Amino acid sequence: MASDPTDVPEPSAEPVELRLLPDTAAIDASGSLTIGGVRLTDLAREHGTPLFVYDEATLRARAHEAVAAFGRDRVVYATKAFLCKEMARLAHDEGLLLDVSTGGEMHVALAAGVPGDRLTVHGNNKSMAELRTALEVGVRRIIVDSFDELDRLDALRREGLAVPKVLLRVTPGIKAETHAFISTGQDDSKFGFNVRNGDAMAALQRARASSSVELMGVHVHVGSQVFDVENFAQVARRVAAFSEPLGLPELTLGGGLGVPYVAAERGSTLTQWSEVLKSEVERAGITSDVIVEPGRALVAQAGVTIYEIGTVKRIEGVRTYVAVDGGMSDNPRPVLYGSGYEAFLPRNAASARPMRCRIVGKHCESGDVLLFEAQLPADARVGDVLCTPVTGAYGYSMASNYNKVPRPAVVFVADGSSRVVVRRETYDDLIRNDV
Ligand code: LLP
Repeated sequence: MASDPTDVPEPSAEPVELRLLPDTAAIDASGSLTIGGVRLTDLAREHGTPLFVYDEATLRARAHEAVAAFGRDRVVYATKAFLCKEMARLAHDEGLLLDVSTGGEMHVALAAGVPGDRLTVHGNNKSMAELRTALEVGVRRIIVDSFDELDRLDALRREGLAVPKVLLRVTPGIKAETHAFISTGQDDSKFGFNVRNGDAMAALQRARASSSVELMGVHVHVGSQVFDVENFAQVARRVAAFSEPLGLPELTLGGGLGVPYVAAERGSTLTQWSEVLKSEVERAGITSDVIVEPGRALVAQAGVTIYEIGTVKRIEGVRTYVAVDGGMSDNPRPVLYGSGYEAFLPRNAASARPMRCRIVGKHCESGDVLLFEAQLPADARVGDVLCTPVTGAYGYSMASNYNKVPRPAVVFVADGSSRVVVRRETYDDLIRNDV
């Protein structure tokens, strides 16, 4: 990810690579792209655009791979990446634990029928109400982030609520190689107890002696979209040096495995990530159970977004703007982090993409950009369905109603058919809470 939003890797003019698409992506006899056996152009017609399309097979395959690689009850899905009731059910069904970082995420997971004891609760500022609910539904772990939170858990214990099993989130003083906004392990962080200044040790001693929590271990998460798996080995080493002498049963190493978004990027698989971590655990003599909580790596590649092109504006000698019917309200990542994406036309997915353009949304500001530098087939035209792959993580979950644009629907596809798992918002939804 770039800190200058326009500083993204040079886009490819070659046809989109299938490796960036969901596992079941295929090109049919007419050149049209199918996912889960369904043509994207047909999905656009049936469900409208913009539309988030998830390949159920890819979601299940990644969950399965993670559980096989790390072991049962050692993989916690970070629901912030993408959450709706059906996704919560799928994750639970595949044997994942679910990480919820707010009362809202906890509510959705519980509403989906996920038992409280399959949830782990995060957040740097959990309210009394959130903690109370967590204790009432008997969550599996609370990841304690601050001394204030320990005070709140003391108060809830005095009210007679249960004693939770907790991990303490520590900040190990490591800067992960990623965008500053999603790097969380450095000393200057709002998250967790600082190791270097002694806060982490003080918190551990307090938690050990406390009768309002049962201390199970240490938690660390150094950042998101981290490509170099060696970063995680370094973190494991650093944190183990601190936590191993305590002899606690668990060590959670967070999520953060990066995924490729564009042709120029290469990532590691969940299995490769687990291998690096396993060998580091062995080398460092870590005896605690090692747990991970990936979000993006489980869902990003499973999802694509489809839009309809509404305008094509050529400014001779300047650039071509292609505007679609969504934008920063369904994918704020390019604007927030300078994230790069690919775009292609599903009606002719194997086509070369010689036309340089900027793909923008329909919002009322110049910053509303989806792809700063895109390549599209030369015949891209108004009315075409356009697809941006790898939008399964932090797309729908970060969507907004800016400019009163209703949020898109989400469909799951499998075995030649599609089903709506989140319906498209209506204009009436936009005034539902207005008095
Ligand atoms: N565990 C904790 C404690 C986290 O804070 C996060 C992400 C994860 C796990 C999952 O990380 P993942 O495997 O998905 O990288 N909105 C940003 C990402 C923010 C990530 C926040 N925490 C983006 O769109 O890139």
